Amino acid sequence: MRPDIGPAELEAVTRVLQSGWLVQGKEVERFEQSIASRHELLHGIAVSSATAGLHLAYEALGIQKNEVILIPSFAWPSAANMAVRCGAEVVFVDVEPLTYNICPKDLKTKLSQCKEAGKRVQGLVVVHEFGLPADMDAIMPLAETENIWVIEDAACALGARLPSGAVGTFGVMGVFSFHPRKSLTTGEGGCIVTNDPDLEARLRSLRNHGQIIENGQRQFGSCGWNYRLTEFQGALGNTQLERYDTMLAQRRQVAAWYHQHLCEIEGLALPPLDESHTWQTFMTVLGDAFQRDNIVADMRKQGIECSMGAFAAHRLNPFASRHLNKEDDCPVSTRLLNQGLALPLHAFLDETKVKRVAESLKVSLSR
Ligand SMILES: Cc1ncc(COP(=O)(O)O)c(C=O)c1O
Repeated sequence: MRPDIGPAELEAVTRVLQSGWLVQGKEVERFEQSIASRHELLHGIAVSSATAGLHLAYEALGIQKNEVILIPSFAWPSAANMAVRCGAEVVFVDVEPLTYNICPKDLKTKLSQCKEAGKRVQGLVVVHEFGLPADMDAIMPLAETENIWVIEDAACALGARLPSGAVGTFGVMGVFSFHPRKSLTTGEGGCIVTNDPDLEARLRSLRNHGQIIENGQRQFGSCGWNYRLTEFQGALGNTQLERYDTMLAQRRQVAAWYHQHLCEIEGLALPPLDESHTWQTFMTVLGDAFQRDNIVADMRKQGIECSMGAFAAHRLNPFASRHLNKEDDCPVSTRLLNQGLALPLHAFLDETKVKRVAESLKVSLSR
């Protein structure tokens, strides 16, 4: 990845740095409002990262200790880490082999298994992995039947949209990330979106040490955190948002070139060229005959940086002990962990460079 920071961003950040107002002010407010209105939602609450946003989302809902939160396994483990930090039990759900998103069938299985084991499920986190919307039309009715809340971890998916709505607008809250590996960056940063005024008030207070204003006086309503975004990050975000649609179009073009130049390689599965995808990552899946880490090393020798795609959270140390002596209950995630190969993806790739990646990959796979 390579962040796309141009002269407008440099000018905006410099202007804020020279203004003397560095933390959460008008720029952050404008950024929050723009993110909310892009989603036709009432509230955007900017935070210092998506992980902070997920933490606050749980805190604002009031997590019940030892009750279950269902989370797809194939994703960066922020949602699972924060759930554990809030005292919840995490049950991982497997993903679909082609979309890498939560599998509605396994979700049903895990819901039944929780019931059989006498565990109460309080909520579900849906990750829109790598920027491709999960199947919300299948998932939301399941959550409604079970009477559980849904938080959308849309960290990678700003701008992704299904025919039935924008990503981030289906659940009670949606959380975005602006880490440099995302298509829009503020360095570090995140934003929670919601239509619920009570959640909004709690999120704003918890983000800022638990402060509230009562009768014009500053009070501490609860014990909060400092998860604020800085003004210069807000200014960076505002500038990036102005050209975000163009930035997304560039990423979609790169993905289309990859499809064109990789589609005939045997033993390589490509992600779907879906028009709703925002392409935070272009992850291919290698056939079982290939050792992913060897391919990464060989590509590096050819001057091209590739990497694994994402982690399978159920296999990570803090969670793996739950699976000791048990069959792997998220086998698709495990396969994607082992065979996923993410290719370079950023705004500075042209078709010649994409072709070079494709040619190098063919060489690596043939050795
Ligand atoms: C699905 C998902 N959730 C959460 C995060 C964490 O985002 P942040 O780095 O802003 O905390 C990431 C980061 O890669 C992610 O991919």
